[in-house]
Amino acid sequence: MEETNLKNLPIGVFDSGVGGLTVVREIMRQIPKERIVYFGDTARVPYGSKSKETVTKYSRQIVRFLKTQNVKAIVIACNTASAYALEQIEKEIDIPIIGVVKPGAVTAARATDNGKIGVIATEGTINSEIYTQYIKALKSDAKVMGKACPLFVPLVEEGLLEDPVTDEIAQRYLSVLIDSGIDTLILGCTHYPLIRSTVGRVMGEAVTLVNPAYETAIELKRLLTEKNMLQDEKPALGTNQYQFFVSDGAEKFQHFANTIFKYGVLAVKQINIEEY
Ligand code: DGL
Repeated sequence: MEETNLKNLPIGVFDSGVGGLTVVREIMRQIPKERIVYFGDTARVPYGSKSKETVTKYSRQIVRFLKTQNVKAIVIACNTASAYALEQIEKEIDIPIIGVVKPGAVTAARATDNGKIGVIATEGTINSEIYTQYIKALKSDAKVMGKACPLFVPLVEEGLLEDPVTDEIAQRYLSVLIDSGIDTLILGCTHYPLIRSTVGRVMGEAVTLVNPAYETAIELKRLLTEKNMLQDEKPALGTNQYQFFVSDGAEKFQHFANTIFKYGVLAVKQINIEEY
């Protein structure tokens, strides 16, 4: 395929649900000319309590679907799928693919002063110990404390972003991290930046919160530049620059997306992901 055509192709981004939209938001900010095809696996969320085999199977199906949309690169905008499936899938496909874990680990290792880093994430991501491995590879004397926060995902999916129930759950989950003296906390699930202010309030100002989405978008830009795939012209007005697909509940997803983006999401299509 010609280089110029490659530049015009969209980037595929996926997550188990709405969480990956926090990564899309960063990509839109940092490389605003790019086209994006997003898939949220709303029929099968959550991934965080499922096995590595299941999450890898789901991720493979989504990658196959995104390839039918002619994407030039893929971002796994889900920590659990990045932890469980990225290593395997990158061996199987012929386009660049990145996850969110490594960029998050790099930012945290840079940000910490006292070397004590907390990670909040799904059970799957915490049990995989992937953040600990990446951080230790960069900073061998770092102390990494993981805490699974499984209830955060349904709270976010239900839109309870600023709610006393979310505050209460956050207090319970995070108290152990406050006691441990961390100075940096990774929001290791793409849903969590949506409750960043609650987490920040509970942890206090002295703790730096790391949103891996920010560094992921930088990493994506670097990769596309290196491969000469970066889009250099904003798609013409009227072009569908951003497309959204889900496996269930298109209307609910659309409503949610419109609460977090400035630009209006006009259409969300439902597909049968099991066919891929
Ligand atoms: N947003 C996903 C992540 O970053 C997981 C949510 C879930 O499906 O459990 O891990």
